[in-house]
Amino acid sequence: MTEQLVDSVEELPAADVRALEEVLVLDFGGQYSQLIARRIRDCGVFAELLPSTTPVEQIRERAPKAIVLSGGPASVYEEGAPPFPTQLLDLEIPMLGICYGMQAMALALGGRVESASSGEFGRTELVLREGGGRLLGGLPEEQTCWMSHRDAVFEAPDGFTPLASSPSSPVAAYEFPDRGLYGIQFHPEVVHTPYGTEILTRFLRDVGGCEQQWSPQSVIAEQVEKIRAQVGDGRVICGLSGGVDSSVAAMLVHRAVGDRLTCVFVDHGLMRLNEAEQVVETFSQFDIPLVHVEAEERFLAKLEGVEEPERKRMIIGEEFIRVFEDEASKLDDVGYLVQGTLYSDVIESGGSDHAATIKSHHNVGGLPEDFDFELVEPLRMLFKDEVRAVGAELGLPERMVWRQPFPGPGLAIRIVGGEVNKERLDILRAADAVLQEEIRAAELYRQLWQSFCVLPVVRSVGVQGDGRTYAYPIVIRAVTSDDAMTADWARLPYDLLERVSNRIINEIRDVNRVALDISSKPPATIEWE
Ligand code: XMP
Repeated sequence: MTEQLVDSVEELPAADVRALEEVLVLDFGGQYSQLIARRIRDCGVFAELLPSTTPVEQIRERAPKAIVLSGGPASVYEEGAPPFPTQLLDLEIPMLGICYGMQAMALALGGRVESASSGEFGRTELVLREGGGRLLGGLPEEQTCWMSHRDAVFEAPDGFTPLASSPSSPVAAYEFPDRGLYGIQFHPEVVHTPYGTEILTRFLRDVGGCEQQWSPQSVIAEQVEKIRAQVGDGRVICGLSGGVDSSVAAMLVHRAVGDRLTCVFVDHGLMRLNEAEQVVETFSQFDIPLVHVEAEERFLAKLEGVEEPERKRMIIGEEFIRVFEDEASKLDDVGYLVQGTLYSDVIESGGSDHAATIKSHHNVGGLPEDFDFELVEPLRMLFKDEVRAVGAELGLPERMVWRQPFPGPGLAIRIVGGEVNKERLDILRAADAVLQEEIRAAELYRQLWQSFCVLPVVRSVGVQGDGRTYAYPIVIRAVTSDDAMTADWARLPYDLLERVSNRIINEIRDVNRVALDISSKPPATIEWE
């Protein structure tokens, strides 16, 4: 998010918050559609992704400052290719077509779109024409950009000025400023287009007249208003997991309704070292009413003798619900339940018509569907990095703001091939703490999507001092990823790995080997379980 025009929540009256401008991104199914919305928000303007088939009436009612048409996998000539929503032109709202969006606009308005002899994928040289016009003027005449297309615009429609070309795109950008219509063949939203953010900002600010007020503070002010409007005098309950989403959601709701929120933290004993204490400490520091249910024994008793990973998940999920229900029933008049649903969850469960893949969700640790609560979802419109920015603004400690994702069933699914018990959990927790400490010390924590240890329940022979040992191995798993759908193993420095290995083996009696997982996802997964 960009730096503020508004310095504090108090300075921003509620009416102004609701009047904040927005941009709609119409999704033609491109792999970067979400990223376009994120980048626009990074430019300080709220952006929402909608299917390209959204009725024009709906768009008119929302009166966006500008519309962006995303890329998409289809060829404009393919049967069933999503059409350019021609009626949108009547709204006279500034419009930027990107890749497919540009081609669809060109074709609909009488331009010539054809399949180039070869497509362009990846870094591509772009040469400006006509001084770059309103959209690209003043940028370097030759620059690189990121392309991903086969069809290209060969002739711009009447009235449009071609602004740039690339080896396989005779018209790689065009504009018709009087009608507020713009198109670019390349992707301004990816980091490999160095002037991408500048181009988006120009479109938003100079063409769309956006004032760029979207910021963590404006989100807080807006959500606090919304929560108050929804909840009224009602009482609210929130299940905390220790992760950033539920913590930020709880803090927002607390800011809105104060002590009418009660948080319930079910401590299943499967957290990382000191994490439960951090949650309790943080929430008491903010005077947020918190019920800390210390349920380790209850969970471990249920997990006794269970080796099969799916069974472990089921047991933990069911027990979690039971404990939560017990606590909820002790509170009077609770009508609302806070959920940390994020915008990516909303999109992935049907936000777009055309996207090729839909993520399957891990629901373990979730809550029962037959709860008689109305949901409060203050993060529904936010991307993960925005949730972090809001958390930081609300004063959530850095350690919690930047916490890597952690599965609901916790360390239980990282003890593989055997029962989960206290002894093994303590070994895994100790090893994991060493890894986290060293990764933080090497300043790599934020660069990794996840980093953790796995305990396979097998023992092997080793030698330590003058004696033989027969102990567990620990596997280090560290991955980079954008969204957990795919992941690559992180190339951790050898000296860091050496330090981690030495410390784990020296400090934890029951471990005599450390191994590194060097598999990507797919074909492996991030967790072992
Ligand atoms: P996999 O192992 O499928 O994990 O590559 C993808 C992401 O999901 C997390 N994960 C879980 N999260 N409950 C959760 O809340 C679960 O049961 C669960 N299993 C995996 C995993 O940590 C990774 O971020």
